[in-house]
This record gives sequence, structure tokens and C-alpha cells, in this order.
Amino acid sequence: MGDSYVLYHDQIIKNGALSVDFEDRGYLFGDGIYEVVFVYDQKPFALNEHFERFIQSAAKLELVLPYDLQTFKELTQQLISKNKVHDGMVYIQMTRGVAPRNHLYERDMQSVVTGFTKSVSLNTIAESQSNGVQTYLTEDIRWLRCDIKSLNLLGNVMAKRKAADFDCQEAIQHRDGTVTEGSSSNVFIVKNGVLQTHPANNLILNGITRQIVLKIADKLQIPVLEESFSVDDLLRADEVFITSTTMEITPVIKLKGASDQTYKIGSLTKQLQKQFKEQIVTSTSAMKS
Ligand SMILES: Cc1ncc(COP(=O)(O)O)c(C=O)c1O
Repeated sequence: MGDSYVLYHDQIIKNGALSVDFEDRGYLFGDGIYEVVFVYDQKPFALNEHFERFIQSAAKLELVLPYDLQTFKELTQQLISKNKVHDGMVYIQMTRGVAPRNHLYERDMQSVVTGFTKSVSLNTIAESQSNGVQTYLTEDIRWLRCDIKSLNLLGNVMAKRKAADFDCQEAIQHRDGTVTEGSSSNVFIVKNGVLQTHPANNLILNGITRQIVLKIADKLQIPVLEESFSVDDLLRADEVFITSTTMEITPVIKLKGASDQTYKIGSLTKQLQKQFKEQIVTSTSAMKS
């Protein structure tokens, strides 16, 4: 059985042997960051990109990295191997550390790194990728630093719960009528052959999958607008899809919460999905050789 080992500081230990200090600032304040990396055929996908973002998030919050980038990558790989993950995800988290509860943080704290893996059958994500998902439109109530992949996810989890209550797999959030992103994904629309998504600023997380999709679009010479769009634009789109590490490129077939709208899974979405899959195969086979 896989998934029974976890990462704690720089050690891979048995899951049951890990305990979290209740004075950990991650536990008390959500004071920390994380990354989720997908594993295909035992290889982490886009590992460098994920750890680059991890380091950026750490810098934005003045979190201290306990070891260098190479060690983070090696420990992640060791965790995947130890748990014998064939396909699935790796979660790596770093909190500011342990101290008596006080809003004021010190800058020289010893960060606490933890991580786990979860094996996933690729069939489960394949189904929503071919059939699409239902989404629910809801107000974006989050703070103004959504570019940081922080542990503070209350707005996101509330949006996800609301979506699930309306039988939808994902929430699409808007700020005053401007579509920002999903609760755990980025949102793209297609109108008259042009691909559009919210610009990478403080109002969204610049998803690694989002960045890969934009690179693929560039390679395929698909016109792209990295400009914000309105709920009306979303309602009138020809195609809508969401992207994330765990959902890859997932078509949206329905939007609820406004005037209900249905969408077809369009040719541009399918073309991007195909290229994305090819990129996964290329990257995993490159890591084998
Ligand atoms: C709020 C939010 N936006 C976007 C994404 C997609 O990012 P990525 O493609 O790096 O997984 C996530 C992923 O969890 C997220 O939580």
C-alpha cells in the first residue's frame, strides 16, 4: 500500500509518527504556503514551476526556507518513491513555524515543512475531462493577495461548498461582475476563436496549468487575451473550461447561479486538452531517459 509515508522537515517518516504542534502558526493563523504537484507514471509534472511559485509565495510572506530548492525537489521525489505513487498528487506545505500565539511574527523563525501523497486513478479525472463539469457562479469574497498560494483558503472552501450544494463540481468566482477564477482552478473562455483568461495579478493564483495552457496556445498560434472579462462575457462564451493541477483542462458544460447557461465542449478546448496530454507524455518520458 502506498501513501503511508509523509515528509516532516527533511525526513520521510511513517504517517502515524507525525504530530503537529498546536502552537504551529499554520494551525493557529493559516500562516503558511503549499503546493500540489501531480504525479504521472511515477514522475512529478512541472516540478520546477511548482517550486518556483513556492519560493515566490515564501518570499511574499517573508517565510524562511529551511533548505535549498534542490533539497525540496529531492525530498518530493523521495516521498513519491517511498509511497510508490504511480499516478496521484504530492502536497507540500510550509508553515512559519512554532511560537506562542501572537499576531506579530518574528522573521527568524524555523519553518515547518510537511508533505503527503495521494494516489489517484487517472480514470477518475478522465471522466470529467471528456464529459465536462457543472459550475456555480458566486461572489469572490477573498482577500487581495490571491497570487500567494497560502494556507488561508476560507473564501475558496466556502465557494466550493456552495457549488457542491447546487450539484456543481466547481465554483466560478466574480468580483463586482468581473470573473476572477475558480475555487481551486483558473477559468478560460473562448469567443470567436479567441482564448481569454484573467491576467496574472493579485486577484488570482497564476496557475501552473494556466501558464502551460497559455504556452500551448502560443505554440498553436491561437489568439489569446490575458484580460479580465465580465459575467456577461462568461454567459455569452462559445466555450468555457477550467484548469488546475488535479483537473488539468476540464470543460464547463453548465453555469448555474446567474441565468443558467449551458455550453458545448468545443474544438479549441479539445485541441488544448490533446496538446496538454502530449506534453505530459513528453515530460514523463524525458525524465525516464
Ligand atoms: C485558487 C486557485 N486558482 C488556481 C489554481 C490552479 O493552479 P495550478 O494549475 O497551479 O494547480 C488553484 C489550484 O489549486 C487554486 O487553488
